Amino acid sequence: MKNKNTYYITTPIYYPSANFHIGHCYTTIIADAIARYKRLEGYDVCFQTGTDEHGQKIENKAKESGVSPKEYVDEIVQNAINLWDSLNISYDKFLRTTDDIHVKTVQKIFEKLYEKGDIYKGEYKGLYCTPCESFWTASQLVEGKCPDCGRDVHEVKEEAYFLKLSKYQDRLVKYIEEHPGFIQPESRKNEMINNFIQPGLEDLCVSRTSFSWGIPVTFDQNHVVYVWLDALSNYISSLGYMSEDDSEFQKYWPANLHLVGKEIIRFHTIVWPIMLMALDLPLPQQVFGHGWLVINGAKISKSLGNYRDPREYICDYGVDAVRYFVLREVSFGNDGTFSEEALVARTNADLANNLGNLVNRTISMGNKYFNGSVKNLKITEEIDADFIHIINDLVNVVREKMNILHVSEAIAAIFEVLRRANKYIDETTPWILAKDDHLSDRLQTVLYNLLESIRVCACLLAPFMPDTSIEILKQLNTQHQELEYLDDHCYELSQPTPIFQRIDVK
Ligand code: MSP
Repeated sequence: MKNKNTYYITTPIYYPSANFHIGHCYTTIIADAIARYKRLEGYDVCFQTGTDEHGQKIENKAKESGVSPKEYVDEIVQNAINLWDSLNISYDKFLRTTDDIHVKTVQKIFEKLYEKGDIYKGEYKGLYCTPCESFWTASQLVEGKCPDCGRDVHEVKEEAYFLKLSKYQDRLVKYIEEHPGFIQPESRKNEMINNFIQPGLEDLCVSRTSFSWGIPVTFDQNHVVYVWLDALSNYISSLGYMSEDDSEFQKYWPANLHLVGKEIIRFHTIVWPIMLMALDLPLPQQVFGHGWLVINGAKISKSLGNYRDPREYICDYGVDAVRYFVLREVSFGNDGTFSEEALVARTNADLANNLGNLVNRTISMGNKYFNGSVKNLKITEEIDADFIHIINDLVNVVREKMNILHVSEAIAAIFEVLRRANKYIDETTPWILAKDDHLSDRLQTVLYNLLESIRVCACLLAPFMPDTSIEILKQLNTQHQELEYLDDHCYELSQPTPIFQRIDVK
């Protein structure tokens, strides 16, 4: 039985690519923020990502490059690892579908479902979109093209194995209806039920014979396992399901959250739960389908050539400015627009001004007026109570927002407290207090309150902007990680250095 204190969160496993864009980073940055937040709350978190390395698309690309598929993926998989490193992604597991443990598990899953009669042999006739690795029926096409990516589909006819989706249709609908949190946001749930499940599920073709770059079906070596069956299994193969040591599977499964982009929610809320039902396994608690990052209204895409390498943004603006922008700008679940102008505007207004100036001014005043030693001398005024109440309430607001994955609103709440702290400076006018020796204790109390607001905000910012959080706490020179206003400790401040520079728009 899974312990309530564990939290298993996954991103999709990525097609290895030499051309990742900021849209790809989106799923991973959000997952990272959620994983870090859950760790902050004390959960034993397992955060998994990885690469989806089989399929015709990869086989074709390797052929074009004149290398074997394995050589091809070995070389470019490093791109994902490097990119996640430069974005400070704190994954615990990185699964490659070419890993031995994964290959063996997929083979065992396939055998088990075949023995059970949920996978059977037949003939596949139909339409296939190679870029999406998706089968379609003629009625699902949009103007004769793939409904997901708008590209050409081609006819395929081959002997194949099928997974009995139809057998589980009613059970799936019942499950979705009885577990309102399973598919989120709500709109995606309705879309899945009305557009895909209710019209009737056709059995899914789960093996291919027309190419060989895939996991071989053990009892019928002409066949390789369909990439989506292969890929979806990653969520349990990585935990050792059906292997000699399945202790992590026992510990972490079922997943708390599969975070996926909206275009692949269909696989995660129809095929995956049915695979799990057929395997007699519990279903994940939630599949959340987020919207896309778009540029000028269009999906970011290689063919449109409308993007720069995300590493260039990190280089130009800093990793936390990029993380902040992506997390803050997009209201979760909806599409959001990425633009460098908006990134610069947010960096200047929120990071350099609201946050950076506050930290710099406050620490400078602490150094200037009290040589960096600031205690709570408790010369309070009415205005303090409200300020302290807001600081103490922040952890609750952030928890409430994060529990429903409203990441942008959680961050907004932190920045609202920072804004309030700036206002507290205007209201208490420390520079005027500093002119009168009799008011020195009041001045120290004011600075203490400000430092506490900054400390609590810095601790709560850690999941979203980990480096910035560490840097602020370093400048405050404190080890305290409590998420509430502390009454009584003594700051020995370091020298401030600006944490975000204003970016000049040329
Ligand atoms: N390999 C499959 C997933 C298999 S999971 C069992 C896949 N890979 S992907 O590389 O194409 O996409 C990985 C993630 O990036 C998906 O969640 C996808 O939605 C996300 N994004 C790709 N482009 C995106 C945007 N422009 N905006 C936001 N996310 C997008 O699908």
